[in-house]
Amino acid sequence: MIFEQIATGGCQSYLLGCGETCAAVVIDPEASQVDRYLGLAARDGLRIRYLIDTHTHADHFSGTRQLARQLGVPVVMHRESPAPFVDMRLDDGDMIQVGRLRLQVMHTPGHTRDSMCLQVEDHLFTGDTLLFGGTGRTDLPTGDPEALYDSLFSGILRLDPALKVHPAHDYKGGIESTIARELAENPRLQKHERGAFVDMMRSLSLSMPTHITEALRSNMSGGKTVAQLLAEAAAVVPFMSLAELKARVESADNNFILLDVRERDAYENGHIPRARLLPRGQLELRVNDDLPDPTKRIVACCEFGRISTLAAATLRELGFQRAVALDGGVKAWREAGYPLQSGSEA
Ligand SMILES: [Fe+2]
Repeated sequence: MIFEQIATGGCQSYLLGCGETCAAVVIDPEASQVDRYLGLAARDGLRIRYLIDTHTHADHFSGTRQLARQLGVPVVMHRESPAPFVDMRLDDGDMIQVGRLRLQVMHTPGHTRDSMCLQVEDHLFTGDTLLFGGTGRTDLPTGDPEALYDSLFSGILRLDPALKVHPAHDYKGGIESTIARELAENPRLQKHERGAFVDMMRSLSLSMPTHITEALRSNMSGGKTVAQLLAEAAAVVPFMSLAELKARVESADNNFILLDVRERDAYENGHIPRARLLPRGQLELRVNDDLPDPTKRIVACCEFGRISTLAAATLRELGFQRAVALDGGVKAWREAGYPLQSGSEA
């Protein structure tokens, strides 16, 4: 088996390939690493056939949907997954064939209702059911400590003790472990009694994962993250550097429109000389009156350089084929010590 482990912070994903047939699967891909999975698969001569999420993640943005769209292959999850974009829903005991590899599915609710573990040869991909020296938490939506107890003690901990454990999280990196080692050393597994285990899980007071609202929204609906939305806009617009804009402002180059898309009060507090005000929220309403010439070069700027990217993408969609965004925004311009003007439009 060809085995690649890809870390995104503490989140782990796995690319598994069949050496004989070159078919492959990605387990728990993360949205910001889509190009990396594709690059690794290409480097290893693999073709990705399935994209699997071991459960609904609350702490990272799943990349399954994006990869599925690019590759035309199914998103695979347990049938309890609330996500509407899942193409192949699995039950406990199902098996997926990836070339000559056999992925055996075990439903292991507890961390979430849709959690599953996957056994491939002597490897066990445990999602957030079993971690190195820990278990998944049970206090997030659909978590259930009683179910986790059963999934562990009547489930995966009864499998071959020699199985290598590969969790969806590992914050230290470089750990190798087995079921036997976790049974012996994992502090959470030392409570063998159901009641004691459940009490322990209920008494953990863990802080909420960062981005939980956005992660659940995106992972459960298939909707985009804000970062994805911005990345898609950035992919279709060119930028202008601060230095380039400064040179053009200073040389009194009149062959472009500098469009400040912030709100009026921000504009009046200080804007780049020559900038015209057209707030992002009014862009579509005022575009016909304010920008009559679609062949004009337009440089959109905002405070941080993100909203201006969306504005430039919108302008391009509307036919302004020379719309670009300022790289860095007014904040960067100000911090560079470049001149600003205050007050309303001249
Ligand atoms: Fe999780």
